[in-house]
Order: sequence, then C-alpha cells, then structure tokens
Amino acid sequence: MQEIKFYSGENIPLELHKVRIVQKLNLVPIERRLEALYEGGFNTFRLSTKDVFLDMLTDSGTNAMSDNQLAAMMQGDDAYAGSQSFYRLEKAVQDVLGKKYLLPVHQGRAAENIIALAYVKKGSLVPMNYHFTTAMAHITDKGGQIVELLYPEAYVINSDHPFKGNMNIEKLEEVIKRHGAANIPFIRMEASTNLIGGQPFSVQNLRDVRAIADKFGIRLVLDCSLLGENAYLVLKREEEFKGSDMKTVIHAMTSLADLCYFSARKISSSRGGGMCTDRPEIIKELEALVPLYEGFTTYGGISIREIEAMAVGLYETLDETMICQSPSFIKYLVDSLDAKGVPMIKPAGVLGAHVDAMQVCAHIPQTEYPAGALAAALFLISGIRGMERGSISNQRDEEGNETYADMELLRLAVPRRVFTLSQIKYVEDRMNWLYDNRELIGGLRFVYEPPVLRFFMGGLEPTSDWPQKLMAKFKADFGESL
Ligand code: F0G
Repeated sequence: MQEIKFYSGENIPLELHKVRIVQKLNLVPIERRLEALYEGGFNTFRLSTKDVFLDMLTDSGTNAMSDNQLAAMMQGDDAYAGSQSFYRLEKAVQDVLGKKYLLPVHQGRAAENIIALAYVKKGSLVPMNYHFTTAMAHITDKGGQIVELLYPEAYVINSDHPFKGNMNIEKLEEVIKRHGAANIPFIRMEASTNLIGGQPFSVQNLRDVRAIADKFGIRLVLDCSLLGENAYLVLKREEEFKGSDMKTVIHAMTSLADLCYFSARKISSSRGGGMCTDRPEIIKELEALVPLYEGFTTYGGISIREIEAMAVGLYETLDETMICQSPSFIKYLVDSLDAKGVPMIKPAGVLGAHVDAMQVCAHIPQTEYPAGALAAALFLISGIRGMERGSISNQRDEEGNETYADMELLRLAVPRRVFTLSQIKYVEDRMNWLYDNRELIGGLRFVYEPPVLRFFMGGLEPTSDWPQKLMAKFKADFGESL
C-alpha cells in the first residue's frame, strides 16, 4: 500500500473508511467516575460502559464491523449440522489462513482449553515466546507448565528492535534437551505477544522455530488471534517481504504451523474462534472434544450470524487499507506521548499503546500494583478505560505466592476503525496531564481475590486517599471541564 503524505509535512494517520452508523458516548463528571471506581473495585473490567467515555479496554469483540460483515449476517443458514454458513467459513479459512480443516469454537480460550485437554498432562512443559493469560491458565489447569523464551531485547522498554516477539532459538533447543522432547506436547508461538506490548515476530524466526520442532518431532501451534497485524508489521519491517502482500505473509506463517487457533473476536472483527490444520490426525485428536465443550462441529458454540461475519471478516484481514488502521493510530499515539516524555513501549506494536507504569509510577512498589493504579487514575481523570497488564494479570505460583510481572503496563487498546484522530488526541492530552501529576497516584491492594484469572473480577481499594487528591488537582486545573 502506498503512503499518504500531507502537504503540511505532518505525519498523521488517515482514516480510510467513513462513518455510517454511530453510537453516542457518555462523558460523565469526575465525581461520578470516582464513585464508579469504588463500585467497581478499582478494576476497569468491572466498570459499566455507561460511565466509560473511550473504551480502550480491549480490541476483543470491539473492532468496528464492516457493512459487508453486517450484510452477510442476514444470510445465516440456521442449521444445527451442515449449515452453509459453516462451509463459507471453512472456505474463508482455506483461502485466508491456508488450512484445510476447521473446527469452530466459541472463542479463543475455548481452543486453548481443547488443545490443552488433548495434549497437556501432568509433567508437560509448553515452551512459548510469551504467555497469554488464558493460554497459560488452561495449560496449568491440566497439570502442565509453561516456559517463556524470548531474547533479552523483548524486555527493553525503549527499543527500536522490529521483532521483540521473536522466540529465543538457542534457549528453545536447550530447554527441549533438558526437559526431553517426549514431555513437550507442543511449542506455542503467539503472533504479536500480547502481554509485552503487542510485539511481532518475524517470518524468519518462525522458520527457525519450525526447524527445531522438526529436529525433535514436536508440534508447532500458532496463536493467530493477532496474526493480521503481525503480518502487517512483517510487510513493513522484514526485508524479505517488502513490497509483498498480506496473503503471502500470512500463508508464509501459517504454513509453518501444524495447528493454528484464533480468537475471531480479534482476527476477524466478529465473535467466535477456531482451530485449523492440514493434518487429519490432529483433527481426529481434537474433534471429539468440540461437541462435548462447544457445540456440534459445524457451529462450535458460535451463532450462525457471527459465523457469516467471521468469514467476511477473515477476508477483510487481507485488506491493507483495513489492517493498517489500528497499528498506524497506535504508532501516532505512542510517538506523540513518547515525544512528551511519557515512557511507552517502543517500537509501537499492535492492539494498543502500552504505557510503562513501572516508570510512570516508580514511587509505587510492585506489591501495590502500579499498572492497576495507573489504569484507575487515567479512568478517573478522563473516562478512558484501559487495561492493567502487569502483576494483577499474573497468576500466583503453585505455593500461592505472588509472581510479579516482567512488565507493569497500562494497555490502551485501539480497536480497528473505532476511534477518530481527535479522540486519540484527547487520550494523548489527558495522559500527558496525568504524567505531569503522576506523584499524586498511589497504590492498590486486593480486597477480593478470585482463585483463577483474578484480574477479571478481582476487587481492590486504594491504599490511601490518593484518588480524592488527584480529583482535587484535576478540578483545580480543568475547572468545570468534564
Ligand atoms: N490469544 C491471544 C493472543 C489473545 O489476545 C486472546 C484474547 C486470546 C488468545 C483468547 O481469546 O478472548 O477469544 O478467548 N485477548 C483479549 C485481550 C481478551 O483483551 O487481549 P478469547
């Protein structure tokens, strides 16, 4: 795709779509936002959207859908078994992901559950570039363990490394030799490592992983939830693919994996999920579990209408004018905050802009959850809902001890084609103000901690009256402004 330059020399992303259906947003007063925080246990997952202005919690199920997706939903062929909608989706998976067989599931973590049920047992070890919360929870739930194998540059906040999501090949071989290939049911590669700032891997790195998998006879599983954006950054950053196209890059990646799975809530801007492979024996191993946990193998717990939207959404993933939108708005936000000195994960990746809470809240110890505190503080002063991606999102170890995250991040998701540039500028403005007033942010402590995936429903409280002080400063600076 050709670059669009501005006469003014400004470097700003341009929306390559027009708005045809809108949803009214609410920007409620700061006093109400403070109440909402207390009601929701200082956990942005527990806020009601009636109190949220810009919802940057996630891109999951929140990407804007296209006119063609909505139109396709009306053609759903409702049938318990053998629906034509399924065959259209199967064709889309063959064309876009290049895999012959498809098993639909209700969302990404359902695939993780089934893959773990089929392959993981006590003593299993699953090497991965980096964990995702639900992927790890399903593996540990079946008695397995995970090991993360990245290069040191992945943990460097302010970097210009194009592929921080690359798996550490030397370590992978070492781990397999030490642990024994027989105890390693699969290697998992996550496209655009979610929890460390949406950072992609290169096609070359995936080839190197494949070579090791072949050497030891281990399956390679690819989490394709954020594959489209990973492929887009390969087009931009990997020499071999400059001037190539989305389909070529996507096929180059998926053809290296034995089994691909995805959250359709992300990759195809719909709902649902799926697992796909070219290998009949893998389908045999997984197939029986789908009716047990999800639904019949031609709908997998997904509504037929969503299956239609998924098929169209998958084809649209190949369209660079669509796929460039989220990464280019993220880059704009990251670069403008970085220019003002706000510590950001760099280079800009996919899914969202990631603020380094460890630096912004250097005065808050990790035991008091700096990223959770920053997420709550930003919501208070702006109505912007981000997501904590730090120690609150980590799970306790087998002995019940806290495990502190490698990075304490506030993720500001930029779902595809949802926000306008002036909204992104509002995010930049309020984040800059918060950075200048960061000393006023204080810590959090748990008052209710669920045993699994605690970040979803956990309840916290501030360790002092810092939210009131932050609100007072906001009112002093902004007066009657919302
Ligand atoms: N894999 C990755 C890389 C993900 O980002 C997600 C979800 C999943 C698997 C699970 O898929 O939600 O459909 O069950 N990520 C969302 C997020 C929740 O906000 O980052 P799911």
